[in-house]
Amino acid sequence: MIVTIDGPAGSGKSTVAKILAERLDVRFLDTGAMYRAVALAILKAGIDESNSDQVAMHVRNLKIEFEGARLLLNGEDVTTAIRTPEVTAVSSIVASNPSVRARLVELQRQIGRQGSLVTEGRDQGTVVFPEAEHKFFVTANIDARAWRRQQELAAKGSNLPLNIVRDQLRQRDDRDETREHAPMKPAENAIIVDTSHLTIAQVVESMAKQVLAGPRTP
Ligand code: DC
Repeated sequence: MIVTIDGPAGSGKSTVAKILAERLDVRFLDTGAMYRAVALAILKAGIDESNSDQVAMHVRNLKIEFEGARLLLNGEDVTTAIRTPEVTAVSSIVASNPSVRARLVELQRQIGRQGSLVTEGRDQGTVVFPEAEHKFFVTANIDARAWRRQQELAAKGSNLPLNIVRDQLRQRDDRDETREHAPMKPAENAIIVDTSHLTIAQVVESMAKQVLAGPRTP
């Protein structure tokens, strides 16, 4: 069984996806982490992220693997290194590169063939797993998302004003929604979940109920 959860940053989708996977006792796939790993590799190699040919060439030789909750890039644990603001900004640029997407989609489908999965990203229900049994698009209004992201950053010791966090989110949403290849959008048969006024527990509860009720998109 494949459950896809797509949606913008700050919607709470990563948190709910992780808890839902535990609750259903299936694996969890964070596809954003894979785009982040590519961004980190590009930064490390000193390649201009907007040079699509060079990025395409570089991505071919990258080894990206999950070891439980850890992410390995060419064998090196980059689980923490992919969460910096610099990597965040570059990840949405490399995500618009069709060669990067093709490579990561292939890896994601390989992982999907190994058994049941809750997978989260931007294109999981639309492009990667169009046949998934359950599809969700998790979203929230921009203020709620900016506030959550600001809290996350504050917990890591970075105190950015709310208006800056909101602008950065808008910029990333804009890039993710308007790119030519696999733009972020709900799949036609996705259930839209607006988390602006819901707790994580409420969101997980309602999703688990839908999934346990049986396949919706056979
Ligand atoms: O979910 P995240 O913030 O970790 O994702 C990082 C970037 O990767 C985000 O700007 C969009 C991109 N992304 C994507 O294009 N497709 C996915 N399936 C997952 C992430």
